[in-house]
Amino acid sequence: MGITPTDIEHEVRTIDIIVSKGDAKGDITYANPIFFKIAGYTQSELTDKPHSILRHPDMPKIIFKYFWSNLKSNKDVKAFVKNLTKDGGFYWVLAHVRVAMNPDKTFRNYVSTRKGMSTSARAIIEPLYASLLNAEVSGGMQASLPLLEDFLRDNGASLATFNETMQKIQDN
Ligand SMILES: Cc1cc2nc3c(=O)[nH]c(=O)nc-3n(C[C@H](O)[C@H](O)[C@H](O)COP(=O)(O)O)c2cc1C
Repeated sequence: MGITPTDIEHEVRTIDIIVSKGDAKGDITYANPIFFKIAGYTQSELTDKPHSILRHPDMPKIIFKYFWSNLKSNKDVKAFVKNLTKDGGFYWVLAHVRVAMNPDKTFRNYVSTRKGMSTSARAIIEPLYASLLNAEVSGGMQASLPLLEDFLRDNGASLATFNETMQKIQDN
């Protein structure tokens, strides 16, 4: 929205852990300094704003569909995400999003902890996301879902083991 994407990559160092918290809608309620630094925004520019400010146009819709359907059923998500920075650049992460509960078991918030994506994962995920996105241009998520399922099947996995599969791809 209003930002023209460029091919300038922002470095995520191995020591960086990028953290943010979101409310039920996904609005940012907290983020750590490295989150703002890499994204190129100040704290006040992003607090109470939707996380989708970081949404990169290269991200397939089907990944966010999986993301939210897991969170809404109180399940964790591990997913590779390409994020858009304020200057139009990007950075890749493996995000681990958890649903945090209050002591009385009511919803507290969502917490995302992100690490830089490994080089080996990049070689697998970038072409996968490009093909998912390409399918969505003409056929929407009806077209990208079977491609994602094929990819998971080829990796001996399924949507039920998506998170573990993404962690394996990161670590290999
Ligand atoms: C805790 C939390 C962290 C999130 N982090 C990101 C993120 O880093 N990048 C991103 O594009 N979306 C993130 N999202 C998902 C967004 O809320 C949004 O669903 C996504 O950007 C897709 O945008 P859309 O729903 O408007 O299509 C996060 C959501 C939550 C709850």
